[in-house]
Amino acid sequence: MADYWMEWASLLLRWLHVITAIAWIGSSFYFVWLDLSLRKRDGLTPGVHGESWSVHGGGFYHVQKYLVAPAQMPPELHWFKYESYFTWISGFSLLVVTYYWGASAYLIDTSVAAWSPLQAVGLSLFGLIIGWLIYDGLCRSPLGRHLPILAWSVFLMILVASWLFSQTFSSRAALLHVGAMIATWMTANVFFIIIPNQKKVVRSLEAGEAPDPSLGLQAKQRSTHNNYLTLPVLFMMLSNHYPMTFVGDQLWILVGFVVLIGGVVRDYFNASHAGGDGWRIRWQWPLASMLTLTLAVWAMPSSLTRGPPSTAVTDTEVLQIVTTHCAGCHASVPTQVGFQNAPKGVVLETLVDIDRYQAQIYSQSVASQAMPLANITQMSEDERARLGAWIQAR
Ligand code: HEC
Repeated sequence: MADYWMEWASLLLRWLHVITAIAWIGSSFYFVWLDLSLRKRDGLTPGVHGESWSVHGGGFYHVQKYLVAPAQMPPELHWFKYESYFTWISGFSLLVVTYYWGASAYLIDTSVAAWSPLQAVGLSLFGLIIGWLIYDGLCRSPLGRHLPILAWSVFLMILVASWLFSQTFSSRAALLHVGAMIATWMTANVFFIIIPNQKKVVRSLEAGEAPDPSLGLQAKQRSTHNNYLTLPVLFMMLSNHYPMTFVGDQLWILVGFVVLIGGVVRDYFNASHAGGDGWRIRWQWPLASMLTLTLAVWAMPSSLTRGPPSTAVTDTEVLQIVTTHCAGCHASVPTQVGFQNAPKGVVLETLVDIDRYQAQIYSQSVASQAMPLANITQMSEDERARLGAWIQAR
């Protein structure tokens, strides 16, 4: 019963999370584009940094950006912050419902580290908080004044965090935690830096003072980070459904590739929106494609390149492997504690069932080790290879 309601909570939170993320990322992409499309022209009002014309929805828009702010407060001002806050709140709730509520199935892999659920949840929270404190410290430190040095330090920090997560949680949870950590920085950047700085600017204007330009610069630094980190974070969130990305303790390598690929692709859009041409916009796609191909080849599991088993695999043997390793959970009446129904409706009790789900079984248990969950039944490499050979011979 509780599981049933948890499934609904999970579906509704996921729905909300995707909606708020679209609203946040959508408006953030729009503002980055707007910023880069601003052009200086003769005759602009003093204080106007640039203007941009666009056409949409049956009319023309004429936007001007004031740096740092106009001389007087406008009568009405729109803020953009709840998109970001609700993306984090819904994402964190989803983390609680899936990974904390189901900690022993999703968060903990006893072959990595045998935490109790409470310990694992504590470590997850600790990781998210300490991650932000270190990142924020880096940005505020003298390193923060040199963009390339800061960027490489943050990159290095992400790799170290990935390695630590991979030594702490199940493969799947580890990758999600890297995404959740970076996404937490992004929202915290909005909550602790960007919005408070904008509020200070507004207060100075109301008091009739000139706003401090360093407030705008600080906000710009964080919003540039958010811009470059968006695409990698989206990959990490989606990869949860793709077991070939659960690469165990080599996670830091996968994350390194993903951050570079996402960042390079984002740079293409930034450069082209700013009106760049020639090599400024030509190098990104070839490099990103090459890196992606390298990543896919690198992540290929050895089971895909290994030769077939020496002896033929019989139906009886396959049925036995699946009964031993899968049917505890994947049955109409599961025997595994904590499971009331077959997960995702996947029942694996007969050869007909196995035939029906052969492609998914292959991707979850042969091409990757996503199933059995946390390898709870300790399925061996040999059993995976034999199951794979049987499926391939169908
Ligand atoms: C400890 C319980 C457990 C065991 C044992 C287990 N699974 Fe699963 N399986 C799950 C859960 C939970 C999910 C849902 C995962 C999710 O939410 O993405 C799942 C999902 C799946 C899916 C659907 C994946 C998708 O998202 O489409 C397949 C296929 C699958 N398991 C195959 C297997 C196979 C094959 C085995 C045995 C080798 C196995 N499972 C063993 C718990 C288990």
